[in-house]
Amino acid sequence: MKVGILGTGEVGRTLGAGFAGLGHEVRIGSREPGSDKLRAWAEKTGARASSGTFAEAASFAEVAVLATLWTGTESALRLAGPENLAGKVVIDATNPLLFDPAGRRSWPWATAIRVGSRCSVGCRTRASSRRSTPSAMRTW
Ligand SMILES: NC(=O)c1ccc[n+]([C@@H]2O[C@H](COP(=O)([O-])OP(=O)(O)OC[C@H]3O[C@@H](n4cnc5c(N)ncnc54)[C@H](OP(=O)(O)O)[C@@H]3O)[C@@H](O)[C@H]2O)c1
Repeated sequence: MKVGILGTGEVGRTLGAGFAGLGHEVRIGSREPGSDKLRAWAEKTGARASSGTFAEAASFAEVAVLATLWTGTESALRLAGPENLAGKVVIDATNPLLFDPAGRRSWPWATAIRVGSRCSVGCRTRASSRRSTPSAMRTW
């Protein structure tokens, strides 16, 4: 299977190496596909691994993995090209985390709950657990 990984952090590189180790072809996507980091990753991972732009990884993919920084995710998806992902399985590993200037993290929906945003599905889960899945958040 051809796996396109969108995201070159620890998560993307680890999942990419895992898929390649299982015999799948992997292309990892980045704004800087020729970076030293990705060259080293591809060399270490082996012949089934390659890097490209977000769009190249998305169009290569039969199955895609989304592993981008939350605040860069929309931009990464735009760069990937929604048409390159249409009809494909996309495994979303992102966590919707925000960071303040001091590096402390917060969860966007915690703010939404505090300011009394309306919610029809999954509010109780989110209110009682800060570890709800990102997909739950998308019911807002
Ligand atoms: N599901 C889980 O168990 C689990 C565990 C840990 C983390 N996570 C989540 O997995 C995701 C990846 O985490 P990570 O630590 O591996 O990596 P990360 O540092 O959060 O994200 C790195 C990737 O985000 C891209 N990116 C950052 N800003 C961007 C922007 N403005 N436009 C386009 N792309 C941008 C980077 O692109 P470039 O390559 O071009 O720099 C890079 O590919 C995060 O959402 C994290 O919260 C999930």
